[in-house]
Order: sequence, then structure tokens, then C-alpha cells
Amino acid sequence: MKVLVVGNGGREHALLWKLSQSPLVEKLYCAKGNAGTAKLAENIPIEPVDVKALADFAQREGIDFTVVGPEAPLVAGIVDEFEKRGLKIFGPDKKASLLEGSKVFAKEFMQRHDIPTAEFHIFEDPQKAKNFIKDFSVPVVVKADGLASGKGVFVCKTYEEALRAIDTLMVKRSLGEAGKRVVVEEFLEGEEASYIVLLSGDRYVPMPTSQDHKRLLDGDKGPNTGGMGAYSPNPFVDEYTEHSIRELVVERLIKGLKAEGIHYRGFLYFGLMLTDRGPRVLEFNVRLGDPEAQPLLMRIKGDFLKTLLDFYQGKEISLEIDHRHSLCVVLASRGYPEKPEDGKEVFGLEDVERMEDVIVFHAGTELREGKVYTRGGRVLNVCAWGSGLQEARERAYIAVEKIRFEGMHYRRDIGNRALSRFS
Ligand SMILES: Nc1ncnc2c1ncn2[C@@H]1O[C@H](COP(=O)(O)OP(=O)(O)O)[C@@H](O)[C@H]1O
Ligand SMILES: [Mg+2]
Repeated sequence: MKVLVVGNGGREHALLWKLSQSPLVEKLYCAKGNAGTAKLAENIPIEPVDVKALADFAQREGIDFTVVGPEAPLVAGIVDEFEKRGLKIFGPDKKASLLEGSKVFAKEFMQRHDIPTAEFHIFEDPQKAKNFIKDFSVPVVVKADGLASGKGVFVCKTYEEALRAIDTLMVKRSLGEAGKRVVVEEFLEGEEASYIVLLSGDRYVPMPTSQDHKRLLDGDKGPNTGGMGAYSPNPFVDEYTEHSIRELVVERLIKGLKAEGIHYRGFLYFGLMLTDRGPRVLEFNVRLGDPEAQPLLMRIKGDFLKTLLDFYQGKEISLEIDHRHSLCVVLASRGYPEKPEDGKEVFGLEDVERMEDVIVFHAGTELREGKVYTRGGRVLNVCAWGSGLQEARERAYIAVEKIRFEGMHYRRDIGNRALSRFS
């Protein structure tokens, strides 16, 4: 089979790595990929959001199956475009993708279907939002309605910060149309968890649990990012918690989708805060998380392409999970997330390739004359397996030490909270 993966990041490299293990694969393609995907697939110079050009390519090339990594093409309707042309593609259509494409839609959907989430209010007028915030308790969270690549959420400790967030999003329109409406919501305390399922209509299969690290700096300091590291499994999701996530969140969502006539097929990601009153949904993502996908796919055994195809065709599937733990450290460019530098040569990758139980997935890299250069904020995902979280963590950081590029920075505390709590 010819399989196309849409996207440029570490998640897509990990997907290709996993899919490439399938004997069903004849050739892999990636649009538009990076220096890492180039080793497994043919990189196609088409932007992931250029859905018409991608569908043209898939038709011309006779692609048998397409898997979409990022949210932007899904929200732009890539699935609708492919299906219109009879092309097989794994992901939700434009309507279902609103669960991520609009936080207002998601919050109102949760309210309609009694899915536990933070208390919230929606505003279209900055003055009204500010007046409301003055009487609300702090900390308070301000969120842009539309897609923002991790830059649309402000966790504000003071009123002044919250007022500034409103100005940034609604008056200065730093994120354009995405900040036309905002959600102002209650601050939730607890551990975060990423819970991802394969969903098709009313059938769902949970993937292994994981935890992301959203903040830029150690100790959860600094601004939110796309994610600075992740590991799997997430020990904060014990059996009891998983049961309540399934019952109160996943199953209510499935019922809600059915009631509203929305058919969903693809990965669905529940971003959760595990509070002492139970799990609360922070947001939905209509795809695998990045970087969670990396440690998560590392723990799936067997032929994942066959699993996806079977699931797509409505057959029963079960995921065989590796009992080892996995952990991923994101290496970022100087200036990330605000203004990342580009074009720095990356050294040390060959040393890491020789290590056992370590794998590096590329994110913002490009290949020029046989050399790897940075291209974007999150550059590499250094990942390792271990018999426990501690071992996976140690191995990953030993590998990190071997890699360098100018301005490289990363968090040194991925997995630490889980380790201090559970070991
Ligand atoms: N209500 C909340 N209480 C506490 N922290 C929150 C809340 N909402 C979001 N956050 C923090 O902000 C991060 C990003 O928020 P999220 O809703 O997932 O938006 P996005 O991923 O689109 O940026 C979360 O991972 C979490 O760390
Ligand atoms: Mg999120």
C-alpha cells in the first residue's frame, strides 16, 4: 500500500516510524515532512493545510490510505475533500473537528452533554469580558476561541494579567480571528493527563495514557508551549480515574455526538485536569497530541497500519501494549515559543543512533547537503524506553547530552513529579 502522512513534526515522524514496520507498506509519503521523515518516506513539498493540492497529489499518486497528524488541515476540511474524491483518510471531518477548532463550541458542547469541565463564560466584547473578570476570582484562565498552536491560553494569576490577556487577544488581535471570541474560565488545580482514544461513531479503543509538560521551563514555569516533553504511562491515571474518565467524559461525549448528528472517525484527545473533585476536560484535540504521540506510539506493539485500517473499516481491534515505559524530551531553539531561531546545524545525532532503546524523532529540522539544520521552535524529540519511568528518563537525558545546536534548550524535569510521587 501507498500511505501518506500529513504534517511536519515529531508526531508525524513517530507515526511514519510506526507505520513503516508494517509489511503492508509499499511506499510512505510525508507532506511536507522534515529531515527525519525523509529517511522513512518521500517528503512531498505541499503544505499540510493545502488540502486541495494534497487531494490532487493523493489521486495522482494512487495513495491508498492517508493519516493526518495536525489539527489545521482537519479543521480546514481535508477529510471532507478526500472523501468527496473517494480517497481513504483517517481523521474527523470539518464539522467534527470543531471540537478543537472552536473552544466556544467545545465548551458549549460539554455543557449540553454534562461533561465535567471548568466553569466558564464566553465574550465577544472586550469591555464586557474585563468587567466580568473584575468580579471573578483569580487565578483565572483566558482562552482564545480559535486555533492558536498553543499560544491562545493565558493562565493569569492577577486581574491585571487577565486584563492584559483580553487586550492582547481581543483588542490587539495578536492571533487574528482566533481571538474574536474568548472563553474566561475557572482555574483548576491538579495533575494534567492526556487521554487519547481511537473513535469511530460509538466504538472507541483507548490508547496508553500519557502526560505532557506544557510550560517552557522547569518546575512548570514560563509561558505555555506546544509541549516540552511527555511520558507514558501516566501513573496519575489509576484504574479508578480511568474508569471515571471513560464514564463521565468519553461515553458522554459519544452520546452527545450521536444526539447532534456528528459522525467522528479518528484519534480523539481529551486534555484533562485530574482534580480532587474528579476529572475535568480542559480541551479536546481532534488528533494525537505532540509530543504525547511519540512515547505513546513507542508502546504500541504489532502492525499499527493494519490496526488503523481494520478500525477504519469497522472491524474489531485490540491494541497490544508494551509494558515498558517511554519518555520524550523536546529540544527547542533559542527564542521558542515567541520567536524561534532557524538554520543552526545539529550535531551528535549519529552518536545517539548507536544507543540502544533510544530513538530521536525530528520535528523542526531540514536536510541540506546531507546535514541537518534547525527549522522552527521544537527541533528534536529525544525518546527512550525503560523498564520503569526512572530508567526511561535516565536514558533519554544521556542521549540529550550528546546532541547540540546553537541556542538549544530543554526541560530537565520531564517525568520528575510522577517519579517523586510514585517511587
Ligand atoms: N481551567 C484551567 N485551569 C488550569 N490550567 C489550565 C486551564 N485551562 C488550560 N490550562 C493550562 O493551559 C494549557 C493549555 O490549555 P488548553 O485548553 O489545552 O489549550 P491549547 O492546548 O489549545 O493551548 C493546559 O494544558 C493547562 O496546562
Ligand atoms: Mg492543550
